[in-house]
Amino acid sequence: MNNPAPSDASGHAAPLRPDRNLALELVRATEAASIRAVPFIGRGDKEGADGAAVDAMRAFMTTVSCDGTIVIGEGEKDHAPMLFNGEQVGNGRGPKCDIAVDPIDGTTLTAAGRNNALSVIAVSDHGTMLDASSVFYMDKLVTGPAGVGVVDIRLPIGENIRLLAKALGKPVDEMVVSVLHRPRHEKLIAEIREAGAGTRLMTDGDVAGGINAARYNARTDMCVGVGGSPEGIVTACAIKALGGHIQGRLWPRDDDEKQRALDAGLKVDGYVYEADELVQGNNTIFVATGVTDGGLVAGVRRDANYVYTESVVLRGVSGTLRRISSEHLVSKWL
Ligand code: FBP
Repeated sequence: MNNPAPSDASGHAAPLRPDRNLALELVRATEAASIRAVPFIGRGDKEGADGAAVDAMRAFMTTVSCDGTIVIGEGEKDHAPMLFNGEQVGNGRGPKCDIAVDPIDGTTLTAAGRNNALSVIAVSDHGTMLDASSVFYMDKLVTGPAGVGVVDIRLPIGENIRLLAKALGKPVDEMVVSVLHRPRHEKLIAEIREAGAGTRLMTDGDVAGGINAARYNARTDMCVGVGGSPEGIVTACAIKALGGHIQGRLWPRDDDEKQRALDAGLKVDGYVYEADELVQGNNTIFVATGVTDGGLVAGVRRDANYVYTESVVLRGVSGTLRRISSEHLVSKWL
């Protein structure tokens, strides 16, 4: 069993909570998703890649020792195959937990054969993960620990860059801010450059973008702008382990989406979700396996005998980032 079930003062068994062992089981699911996506790398078929990753992830998730609920599934936004919201996963015998999956963050990257595609699962205690699935986009601000209590998404970007540069003790012209390269960010990109900082424009994949910005001694200092809401929740689980800063504002695309958000009890109109509202507490687990090579993890490689994967596991409770390199015997996989 994953967790021993200690008794509370009244002698009742305390509820099981996700722990470190669960992380190691979850890595098997992200590894499987990444490996199954490989035949689709550079083949122009993002739905096929996502489908293969989803199927592999779902199959492995049924064996994981947990009683999990998918709070954030991947797919609604572009009708990709889903591990759908509300789906029960795990073998039902472990801790009750909330789960966010992103079988491939970077389906377009995968289809194009570009870098930085990841397979991701994030987990937190049951009832702690914000269900932001009715809104496609979230405006985010992510930094490492130096930004905590320093930057604020309500401030102009130039001000945040100056404040963070001061906290980091480096000149503004050495600051690098990553942003998804989208027309909606034209003004933001111009403002970052006007402030004197450089940009790292991402074609896709703002989960890795956020984590990379939050890591100690990273090449980027801040990750900002509007990306997927699910990716915001997943990133928040990782940021808890890195001690960094994350804030998010839901960004409905139209009145209908805004109404769906309000009906779901979400806050819009510029409301700022702090890290603890995106995911309550710090009992979070984030696991990611590279599909294609990236700054966070290497992509899947293969030779005649083995398939090689690289993963990271971040635990909010302990503040650890672990790397897991696995060698999978080809004959067992194919
Ligand atoms: P998918 O893999 O689901 O396509 O997501 C990739 C991604 O770049 C995310 O990392 C990001 O949050 C989101 O898409 C941004 O959405 P859009 O491409 O519509 O700007």
